Amino acid sequence: MDDRNEHGSESSGSGSHTGQSQSGTRTRIGLDVGTSKVVSARGDNVSPTTDSQLNAFFDVPYSALHEQGLKANRTPFYREDDRLIVYGDASEKFAHIFNANVRRPMAKGILNPHEPQATHVLETVLGTLVPVSRNPGELLAFSVPAAAPETGHELTYHEETIKRYLKGRGYTPLAVNEGLAVVLAELAKEGFTGIGISCGGGMCNVAISYLSIPSLTMSLAHGGDFIDSSVGAVVNEPATRVKAIKEETLDLTREGGDKIDKALHIYYDRLIESLVDELGKAVQKTPKLPRNDQPMPIVLAGGTSKPNGFRDRFEKALRRRSWPFQVGDVRMASDPLTATARGALVAALAER
Ligand SMILES: Nc1ncnc2c1ncn2[C@@H]1O[C@H](COP(=O)(O)OP(=O)(O)OP(=O)(O)O)[C@@H](O)[C@H]1O
Ligand SMILES: [Mg+2]
Repeated sequence: MDDRNEHGSESSGSGSHTGQSQSGTRTRIGLDVGTSKVVSARGDNVSPTTDSQLNAFFDVPYSALHEQGLKANRTPFYREDDRLIVYGDASEKFAHIFNANVRRPMAKGILNPHEPQATHVLETVLGTLVPVSRNPGELLAFSVPAAAPETGHELTYHEETIKRYLKGRGYTPLAVNEGLAVVLAELAKEGFTGIGISCGGGMCNVAISYLSIPSLTMSLAHGGDFIDSSVGAVVNEPATRVKAIKEETLDLTREGGDKIDKALHIYYDRLIESLVDELGKAVQKTPKLPRNDQPMPIVLAGGTSKPNGFRDRFEKALRRRSWPFQVGDVRMASDPLTATARGALVAALAER
């Protein structure tokens, strides 16, 4: 990570920033640019205000009638040639109605190279949470994943596309590694020392941090989407429907529901095992782990960590292996869905 700064990501390289509002107070934003959701956090470290938007879209053929219907219903959309693109939270409702899947501008943590609409939709979704800055140079820290072998280790295009968009809206962008953001959000009392893990829609991201300095960042290019599509394939249901059932009903402390529930348990276990395996390999390979006699606290965040029982299953899988550090408490983030955005805000507020 030689060309990386203390936030475990490339420096924004942009010029000076004031981020002073007209009243003289510093305003900062933290943004979690996730495969499934974009989340913003603003205010202070203690009780930030958060907001979110689904990072997804659904397109329907253009007709004047459809367009009027969407307008009358105040559904966010735009027209692209002969299609109407419904984006954000509303897209999932449309997918349910048509028993189909939403499309995503991002896949496995980065802009989806196979989706021609990717950049435009992502920018439109970001725009709903990040208005043009009234304080030029306002600092905005956004999350980026650690490079994964499955996505060709390539983050530059994704990161630069977001930076350019944010600069165009008057911000000074700063990229922050997602696992580190979890540490920044949840381990202030521990001096930002510990392991932050975010299990999201497209990926799981991990950072091992000592005093806020990441000694290891890694990712697995599987997350909730992998669970939804794998279960969908074996029970012959669209992934969007499996996702809704998973979010509403899954309890990992209780085995043995219907076919979908059984399949959800199987793929959750698979995900947890793969994450612990890959983390084990990454830890073995790195020569840079700090020598620390204190047990390392571990914080779990991200939507995929939310089901009841996830923490226990993860902890069991983790403790079955031996690690070159002592595993401390394994705990859930105070709010798993906003931890990355809140941590990005901590990084933004720390900048002078
Ligand atoms: N209550 C819940 N139970 C199970 N899964 C959930 C729940 N709530 C959200 N999820 C899942 O969490 C995932 C989204 O999590 P999150 O918003 O943290 O991801 P993301 O940050 O957008 O993605 P990534 O970090 O991978 O780029 C989705 O797969 C969603 O289905
Ligand atoms: Mg995430």
